[in-house]
Amino acid sequence: MWLPCGCTSKYVASSFARRTLASYLHVSGRSRCNVAAFMPEAAGLEGVSGRAALRELSVSNSESFWAAVARHRLCWSTPFHTVQDCDLSRGKIKWFEGGKLNVSVNCLDRHVHTCPERVALIWERDERGSEMKYTYGELLEMTCRLGNLLRRHGVKRGDCVTIYMPTCPLAVASMLACARIGAAHNVVFAGFSADALAERIRDAQSSTVITVNQGVRGGKVTELKKTVDTAMQSCPTVKQVFVAMRTDNPVTMTARDIAMEEEMLKEDVVCEPAVMNSEDVLFLLYTSGSTGKPKGLVHTQAGYLLYAALTHRYVFSYHDGDVFGCVADIGWITGHSYVVYGPLANGATTVLFESTPIYPDPGRYWDMVERLKINQFYGAPTAIRLLLKYGDQWVNKYDRSTLKTLGSVGEPINTEAWEWYHRVVGDGRCPVVDTWWQTETGGICIAPRPSDPDAEIVPGMAMRPFFGINPVLMDTEGEVLTSNNTSGALCMAQPWPGMARTIHNNHQRFIDTYFQPYPGYFFTGDGAYRSEEGYYQITGRLDDVINVSGHRIGTAEIEDVVNQCPAVAESAVVGYTHSIKGQGVYAFVVLKKGIDVQEADLSRQLNGMVSEKIAKYASPDFIQFAKRLPKTRSGKIMRRVLRKVVESDLEGLGDLSTLDDPAAVQEIIQDINISALYIKEEICRKTAQ
Ligand code: WTA
Repeated sequence: MWLPCGCTSKYVASSFARRTLASYLHVSGRSRCNVAAFMPEAAGLEGVSGRAALRELSVSNSESFWAAVARHRLCWSTPFHTVQDCDLSRGKIKWFEGGKLNVSVNCLDRHVHTCPERVALIWERDERGSEMKYTYGELLEMTCRLGNLLRRHGVKRGDCVTIYMPTCPLAVASMLACARIGAAHNVVFAGFSADALAERIRDAQSSTVITVNQGVRGGKVTELKKTVDTAMQSCPTVKQVFVAMRTDNPVTMTARDIAMEEEMLKEDVVCEPAVMNSEDVLFLLYTSGSTGKPKGLVHTQAGYLLYAALTHRYVFSYHDGDVFGCVADIGWITGHSYVVYGPLANGATTVLFESTPIYPDPGRYWDMVERLKINQFYGAPTAIRLLLKYGDQWVNKYDRSTLKTLGSVGEPINTEAWEWYHRVVGDGRCPVVDTWWQTETGGICIAPRPSDPDAEIVPGMAMRPFFGINPVLMDTEGEVLTSNNTSGALCMAQPWPGMARTIHNNHQRFIDTYFQPYPGYFFTGDGAYRSEEGYYQITGRLDDVINVSGHRIGTAEIEDVVNQCPAVAESAVVGYTHSIKGQGVYAFVVLKKGIDVQEADLSRQLNGMVSEKIAKYASPDFIQFAKRLPKTRSGKIMRRVLRKVVESDLEGLGDLSTLDDPAAVQEIIQDINISALYIKEEICRKTAQ
């Protein structure tokens, strides 16, 4: 791995930064107004007298708001001439046109210029107590060397580089190096299998891949380079694979492979940043939808960076000098926005967490909070629920007095977990922000903060829309629900700079998925409840996407794999409530006629197939073999009915008269009594609480 010792970057980088900044800095100097102390970027806005008025203005006069914020928070080499040009009905979203900038300059050079010795990254390696720190100067040097290396190997502006790496400094530098030379990146979560990786490489049309020899997580070594080698068998267009060394173990190198650190040493520490248009692609990130094919959501330069930076600053009340600890993997959008881009754009010290919440013991997070003096901790409800079960002593052992804000993301946080997080982890003194957002939204859209500093926070509720966010709830007829104390489909009535621009190579799917269900609105795919007070609470997905430990997966993706088994005639996958993972995976499988196999053997085989073709987390918790599946008369599988059955909500089964053969449901219910006692137990426990 790239080590920070003996680095001379301070001098090189800062002189370089000065040169670069001379052309990049363009910051509005206006400063007046009484909200200035809270949000200096809003200082120039007329007639705003408090935070509520500012939020009001950010929606009613969103152009002025975003223009002011964009001028202040980002460094532009050329200022934008048009704040926005959006038409949601056509899925057209453009922000800050005419503006030119470089994202890596915004994340690195400008901080190197002002504080080269500030720590940018703290790499909390899997091995406890072996953390490594990298200053902004060092990260800039790493990024520049890597940018030059990529350029030397033919990577050009507009190319897409796939990054298949664990959370580590070289992964961050790889993302920033792409941004520096104008290439897009496509980070694939290192837990994905070779097939899933290959599919994403092919769809992104990457000819360059960056990986590591091996990953290390929870004390276990994973063979990431070998996985890439397997993926390469079905990716003929990949010309080169850069391989960094996370462990000392050598791996077989082919003619296509390049030893990354070795080659980086030969490169110059200065790398001219590409001048990018606001709407050039910054990255693709694949996520699951309701079909079997993952979609490559596209985020662009200025709007995404601005939104990540602004939400990072205000939702978490991040202040200069704070240590920001988001424990997400860089393979997910949370890692992109709140490990890398948001914190680095704000000049923060950001933590790269490589391990698991329980390695080597359940005190890992809080030991890390004490050691690294973390001020904001941002994690997932699934981990909180897991740690809660281990007891308070693992938390109380460590000094958590540095903590100021606690965040939660990825799935609904149940009240018990919320209370424990607040009372035990935060000693009852840190606001807990339950943040709702998606890969598609680029950054947090609904969260309790910012608000007036002492405004109430209701456990388990995301509550308040962020600046410029205008949520609405829709009824089943597609009408906007105007009253409070009501539930509906969560949509956004206005565009904002952080939203995804398209699905790579498939703009029609983008329109069909997000803009066609409620014309003129962005449809999130989630349902929400708006309370009497006007606060939002997310109630869960309205489509066939489930959320396992905060990881999104389409049930159709799992079914596609299960159906590939020669013994399987058809299958239906649904989610069910799981006390730790949030949702578990329940698969109903119908075998072909005349197949004679042991069900246990076949279950093992199917689980293995899902792990191999997608990822371990997608593998079913339960497989129930059924004679047939409940279907409509037109042959559509009634997943809605199956969902109710696995949740033991037999009263909620609804009208079964449209089923082809209602007896199919009865058969399944009978079998579930035998095979899914565990689920029943959990449901009983939940309802007894
Ligand atoms: C769910 C993760 C309830 C939701 C940032 C959304 C949540 C999906 C919350 C996006 C929350 C995320 N409360 N549900 N605070 N945050 N979700 O794209 O269903 O991996 O649509 O982005 O996670 O998952 P994604």
